[in-house]
Amino acid sequence: MAVGIFDSGLGGLTVWDAVHKRLPDVPFVYLGDNAHAPYGVRDADDIYELTTAGVARLFEAGCDLVILACNTASAAALRRMQEAWVPAEKRVLGVFVPLIEALTERQWGDNSPPREVAVKNVALFATPATVASRAFQRELAFRAIGVDVEAQACGGVVDAIEEGDMILAEALVRSHVDALRRKMPHPEAAVLGCTHYPLVEEVFRDALGPEVAVYSQPDLVAASLADYLGRHPDKIGPGREAMFLTTGEPKRVSSRATQFLRREIAFRPA
Ligand code: DGL
Repeated sequence: MAVGIFDSGLGGLTVWDAVHKRLPDVPFVYLGDNAHAPYGVRDADDIYELTTAGVARLFEAGCDLVILACNTASAAALRRMQEAWVPAEKRVLGVFVPLIEALTERQWGDNSPPREVAVKNVALFATPATVASRAFQRELAFRAIGVDVEAQACGGVVDAIEEGDMILAEALVRSHVDALRRKMPHPEAAVLGCTHYPLVEEVFRDALGPEVAVYSQPDLVAASLADYLGRHPDKIGPGREAMFLTTGEPKRVSSRATQFLRREIAFRPA
């Protein structure tokens, strides 16, 4: 019955938290590749190799469906994995599409041609690798026309969060919001395109001000996963045990995770 959740590190826990609340009976197996975080400064081949290794481990743990709770992996590796690597009986889904469907006011899986949407100026905050991939703009162009996207590569934020240095993370978020505003002074919407950023969502909201609608992934991904599993109940795999796995140092990762989610989380070696 297990579903896998993969991230480079701790950020995917924001997605785990939302999906676990939404689907409390599903055992989720979380894998954080903390030994290799951050992914956002790596090249696409490197991200592909690391992501396939992590997802293979989740298949081994009894998951037939894995959510890449990592925009960087979704942007840099997912398409290549789906085309040539994922076995026919397994599924790997990313976190971009639910977000873009919300932004473009679409129902899940609505594949009708792109159309004009209400929002015209969108600020995208993401890792350098996600911004360089232009995957967000590509997925958006399949669904909407006439939307101006200004992307801000938020260097350093993921490192600071992984290190637990929230003062540095906050200062970096504020400076990235300032940099974005110099390029796009009045965004109507801001997309937090990295699953680590919900951990500093209040800082983004405060720096952006109340007139900017902030789109954050965890609840959108949870709603979309619930819908997907309703339509594909066979994709809940044979694994029965919920667990947290890390390629990093379990004690250190558990203590950060417990601090972020404000509940006891115990990781074990992947
Ligand atoms: N949380 C990830 C994302 O959504 C990864 C960040 C990183 O490892 O740089 O992009």
